[in-house]
Amino acid sequence: MKRNNLFPQINGILHGGDYNPEQWLDRPDILEEDIRLMKQAGMNSATLGVFSWSTYEPSEGEFHFDWLIRNMDRLYENGIYTILATPSGARPAWLDEKYPEAMRCDERGIRYHHGVRHNHCMTSPIYREKVRIIIRKLYEAVGNHPGLLMWHISNEFGGECFCPLCVKAFQDYLAEKFDHNISILNAAWWTTFWSHTYNSFSQIEPPYANGEFSIMGLNLEWKRFTTWNMTDYMKSEIAVIRSLTPHLPVTTNFMQLYDGLDYRVLAKELDIISWDSYPAFHNDYESFAQTMGRNAFDHAVMRSMKRDKPFMLMESAPGLVNWHSFNKQKRPGVHMLASLQAVALGSDTVQYFQWRKGRGSYEQYHGAVVDHLGRSDTRIFREVEALGQKLSHLDEIKGSLVPARVAMIYDWDTRWAIADMKGLADETKKYDETCIQLYQQFLSLGIDVDVISQEMPLDDYQLVIAPMMYLLKPGTAESLKAFTARGGQLLATYLTGYVDDNQLCFLGGFPGDGLKELFGVISEEIDTLYPSEHNEILMNTETPAIVKDYAEYLRVDSDVEVLGRFKEDYYAGMPAITRHKFGKGNAYYVGARIDMTHMKQLIEEMLSHTDLAPMELPHGIECHHRQAEETLFTFYLNTCDHTQSLYAVYGYDLFSQQEIEGTLSLAPYGVAIIRQ
Ligand code: GAL
Repeated sequence: MKRNNLFPQINGILHGGDYNPEQWLDRPDILEEDIRLMKQAGMNSATLGVFSWSTYEPSEGEFHFDWLIRNMDRLYENGIYTILATPSGARPAWLDEKYPEAMRCDERGIRYHHGVRHNHCMTSPIYREKVRIIIRKLYEAVGNHPGLLMWHISNEFGGECFCPLCVKAFQDYLAEKFDHNISILNAAWWTTFWSHTYNSFSQIEPPYANGEFSIMGLNLEWKRFTTWNMTDYMKSEIAVIRSLTPHLPVTTNFMQLYDGLDYRVLAKELDIISWDSYPAFHNDYESFAQTMGRNAFDHAVMRSMKRDKPFMLMESAPGLVNWHSFNKQKRPGVHMLASLQAVALGSDTVQYFQWRKGRGSYEQYHGAVVDHLGRSDTRIFREVEALGQKLSHLDEIKGSLVPARVAMIYDWDTRWAIADMKGLADETKKYDETCIQLYQQFLSLGIDVDVISQEMPLDDYQLVIAPMMYLLKPGTAESLKAFTARGGQLLATYLTGYVDDNQLCFLGGFPGDGLKELFGVISEEIDTLYPSEHNEILMNTETPAIVKDYAEYLRVDSDVEVLGRFKEDYYAGMPAITRHKFGKGNAYYVGARIDMTHMKQLIEEMLSHTDLAPMELPHGIECHHRQAEETLFTFYLNTCDHTQSLYAVYGYDLFSQQEIEGTLSLAPYGVAIIRQ
């Protein structure tokens, strides 16, 4: 795989974080100390200006960038590059006072008051113009600064706006999408139901909390519109930046699996994917390994948006956060482990929120590299410093990519459609949870998995898993058929292919759009089990598989092999798990939510038809790969708080800087990076 080095000017892995010198302008001593401490911690980058608008422009048209220039100069003189944010994540008071249209309206159409952040109207032409002005001014001040590494657009886009400007933009968006023909929209949204037929696009309102919520097509399209509008807003920032500094990369920071925006649409406009990772480590509802596995899934989702380059871990907490329901400290050693997990899964950066704790306001107790104590001999500072040293030795990893040959289809449209569909049981739909659990089965086998959309090409994969693919986009069925026909191993589950792109049910049997030919099954019914109930599936395994939550009543074609049958209830004896030979490949269908032990066995069965070799990893060990040209880097992460040993490991460990000749001993939360 061809190396793609994002930041050749940085030595080692980029190590940095959000830095807010504007909060300390009256303390030059602290700003000077920051430089000293950053160097000590091995930081080579700082993200500036994320929320600096009111310092840059304290009143309309009055600009102050001297402090920024001074700080960027000092950082650069000391080998620290600047990632410069556009300040649109939060607005100064004067702006909202003078231009109230910049403030969003809530889901009842009521205007919010000024305050907090991340809540500007995406449509407002005045806001867009004000942002473009300040970006141009920023460029004039520091656009040619040698320390300027890249642009960070706004901060964690999210939310919705129901103001009149957004409603009009929604109507225009719909007119464009449905060929300016309201009959096409009415047909696509099945509006004859409950007498909801529209006469014109101007009659359509967003799904207000006190308005229309019963048209699934409308609800879905509103979500897509919000993504489209946010992307359009983001593009208005990016366009100015690209016209001024075409050589500098652009990113925006995503928030874990944030449900409100289809990140893959935004991703197309960005040069690099970056995201903010804040797992609830050491919680009381899952094991530490599971929390890590969940985080690995998030990394895989982000990485897979641009498979040809590394991504950036833009934010993570060096210690605790302040917004979880319980803000527990990361235990000693976990910071190193979690940071290198990001690298293992394809990140070329480890960055923090935040460098230094502020004295007041909402985030005064959020973890930081430098505490209110202000010293470098704290536990957390030392852990960051130790990590900084390690990262500086990992230069050869930079630009390497994850050689995944397995993909999982996980889709925002499907998330939205499943959440919105009436039926099943709201509390057990669990689309995300199901995908994450399945991903963790591959994780336990040491198999790298990309997490992709329905539209992404499948050419690089040998095995594809598509859990609960309720909504089918145009072209998906064809792509899956072609994949299987050429020898791919495909697995789908209950709740596959019920609706099309507008949430209209397929006629003639689920899974629709031709998928029933691929799997050789039709799901005639789906049964919802109460949480206290279960069924079983008799398979060719020692124990039966346990069924919870959902079970489908399947008709199967005569050439379909039945791998498991229901044991109980009125569908006892009916097929539950099937395999259908299709071209050179196999299409597996799992018509029930089964326990993960049996799911894993099925995955192993599928893998046996590929040339991918599952690993026998001790419980709690993660194994990931990155590759650059002919060099393969294998990461081993010990998610346990006790030492674990692995055997038959050979190669140079970049972490311990030792040759490993067979036995690899991993300390609690320990890491090894073996070069082969
Ligand atoms: C992020 C945000 C940061 C900071 C951080 C706290 O979501 O981008 O500005 O608020 O959370 O964890």
